[in-house]
Amino acid sequence: MTDRKKTMFDLSGKAALISGGASGIGLAIAQAMLEQGAKVLIASRNQDKVEAAVKQLARATETDQIDAAAPIVTGTGLDVTSDRSVEAAVKRTVDLFGRIDILVNAAGVMLRKPTFELNPADFNQIYDTHVTGSLRCAKAAGHLMREQHSGCIINLASISSFVDLIEVAAYAAAKNAVLGLTRALANEWAKFGIRVNAIAPGFVPTDINRKMIENTDRGRRILEHTPMGRFGEAREIAGAAVFLASPAASFVNGHTLVVDGGYLASGIGDSTAWWTGGDGSAPAIAPGAE
Ligand code: NAI
Repeated sequence: MTDRKKTMFDLSGKAALISGGASGIGLAIAQAMLEQGAKVLIASRNQDKVEAAVKQLARATETDQIDAAAPIVTGTGLDVTSDRSVEAAVKRTVDLFGRIDILVNAAGVMLRKPTFELNPADFNQIYDTHVTGSLRCAKAAGHLMREQHSGCIINLASISSFVDLIEVAAYAAAKNAVLGLTRALANEWAKFGIRVNAIAPGFVPTDINRKMIENTDRGRRILEHTPMGRFGEAREIAGAAVFLASPAASFVNGHTLVVDGGYLASGIGDSTAWWTGGDGSAPAIAPGAE
């Protein structure tokens, strides 16, 4: 790995476990943390994806230590809906690195369905992955962080933790609960030296949502409502994770950091949206009008 000057964002000597780390935002966070000196175990359901991601990370960060006895980056299978699998991933982190300093709960699934068609099994599966899954991982890692009297947990919330995004009720309910879980753990575990925060990313095309937002009407409406006029990149979310895990955030606890190009700050959206007639003047066609 190339030489870095140490800054208050430095993560050298820290050991990180990243659920959902084989793709998208989790993978970008893994790379950013590696670049700041952390040792990283990425963990996800699909073993092939995990292996490919580890190779990609090793190339990107110019490390050849993926197979050494003391690796800098490696991967493992993980299903966050299984207690046993979670325990095994946390144990593997400690077996490899001797400790666990950072847990990123980035495993996620999405379901878009009109709510009249949403059945409890769908709802529970989404909830189990995002909320109970984050709790499982937090408890398993938290036990060890408590012994170390230090640790940092980062949950992935969403824009839908704050506003409705239509026909994703299960996801919205789960992502709202992620905020509650984040606050509860932050409040309860600060005395054990554990900080717990969340990141609420804006719209970043990844496997979870690409088909829904790239070149679709939904995507166009999102862009019209985003002051920066574009989707985010996974790497732009990773910076927030590095910050939250680093000494720079040593007094940040129970916070949800929104990284959304201004989406939530935008009240009326872009004045060039199609329904304004393109010049910010009175609506040519008011939505809902006859
Ligand atoms: P992604 O689909 O690339 O990553 C999610 C990962 O979680 C995948 O690698 C998937 O295999 C893994 N996963 C799913 N279920 C799992 C399970 N039971 N156990 C272990 N791993 C599991 O999508 P992305 O965008 O990277 O999502 C990461 C997190 O960020 C998710 O929590 C998502 O809800 C959240 N998020 C994403 C946004 C976006 O625009 N991409 C916006 C807001 C939040």
